[in-house]
Amino acid sequence: MSNITFTMIKPDAVKDGHIGAILNQITEAGFRIKAMKLTQLTVDDAKKFYEIHSARPFYGELVEFMSSGPIVAAILEKDNAVADFRKLIGATNPAEAEEGTIRRKFAKSVGENAVHGSDSDENANIESNFHFAGREVF
Ligand code: GTP
Ligand code: MG
Repeated sequence: MSNITFTMIKPDAVKDGHIGAILNQITEAGFRIKAMKLTQLTVDDAKKFYEIHSARPFYGELVEFMSSGPIVAAILEKDNAVADFRKLIGATNPAEAEEGTIRRKFAKSVGENAVHGSDSDENANIESNFHFAGREVF
């Protein structure tokens, strides 16, 4: 069990003005911000980041959406970070996400679902290194 996870506040939630509310919920839940920036993925960045889904029918839509506007990328620290963060964000489809979860409160659809959360310790490290240089991590 590692103690970091990687998150993005996705273009829909940034555009809708939810950065502050989402970060507040994350820190209130006990996560410490180790790294954070406002940035935008190029089409190539988004393709690489979601390469694991390249055979899925929604891959094109996902890449287009994730590169469509600014995002907030962050590395978060907490005991049991990966599992606890996925619990905090809720199910991929906001209609199935539990009451009070970030996706239930802020997501619009299964595609535009407000936040990303790593699904394993290994991917948390890969995704953190994809977005941040060592000197940006505290
Ligand atoms: P992430 O934290 O973003 O990785 O979401 P997840 O782990 O809950 O879901 P998954 O990794 O299976 O899917 C990655 C992302 O692809 C989702 O967060 C959605 O943005 C998108 N996605 C998944 N299923 C669909 C779908 O059926 N249609 C569309 N348009 N997008 C989808
Ligand atoms: Mg995923």
